[in-house]
Amino acid sequence: MEFSDLILCRRSVRAYTGELLTRAQAEPILDAGLRAPNACNLQSWHFYALIGADAAELLYPDVYAAPWFEKIGMAVVATVDDAALRERFGEEKGTSFGIQDIGAALENMALAAADAGFGSCWIGAFDPEACRRKVGIPRKRRPVAILAIGRPDGTPDLRDRKPKEEKVTYICSGRDFDSVYSHA
Ligand SMILES: Cc1cc2nc3c(=O)[nH]c(=O)nc-3n(C[C@H](O)[C@H](O)[C@H](O)COP(=O)(O)O)c2cc1C
Repeated sequence: MEFSDLILCRRSVRAYTGELLTRAQAEPILDAGLRAPNACNLQSWHFYALIGADAAELLYPDVYAAPWFEKIGMAVVATVDDAALRERFGEEKGTSFGIQDIGAALENMALAAADAGFGSCWIGAFDPEACRRKVGIPRKRRPVAILAIGRPDGTPDLRDRKPKEEKVTYICSGRDFDSVYSHA
């Protein structure tokens, strides 16, 4: 798929058919995540890939209780090793870098899933302690987000974004500004 099409194709899907992803289908999605930029290439992340029936069985409803979660085909629980990052970058930057690492990786995975015809939904509002318990995540790893993936049941509308003028400030003066702007 063209990159510009892929960006518009990805959207949060909250209705799935119940079709389970196989490990072979999951592999390229995970690979895309692992190729993401990350702080100093420390790869502070660890992903728990819940393949097939394990995804819904382990996570629904204790970890995330939305009814549509019962029909997801796979889940990626993204965790970060805060200690490793804080040791290298200090408390504040270490924590921030870990979240950025996870964000970059999960977006790569969401795009790879969309490219393969799957839907996904990023979940931040889950119960991290229940997640730890159900998935068996050790203390040194902090669950940050879950990416639910599956075969979409229908196509959700593309959600609007605020106007670019409100969200982008161009810093670009004179002739350069005109040439950049006119080619945008
Ligand atoms: C950090 C983060 C947390 C999110 N948490 C949830 C969540 O807990 N439940 C949910 O249904 N969607 C969640 N989403 C998805 C957003 O609601 C969604 O991306 C946003 O509304 C824009 O819609 P779109 O992804 O279809 O463009 C989350 C997204 C992000 C990036």
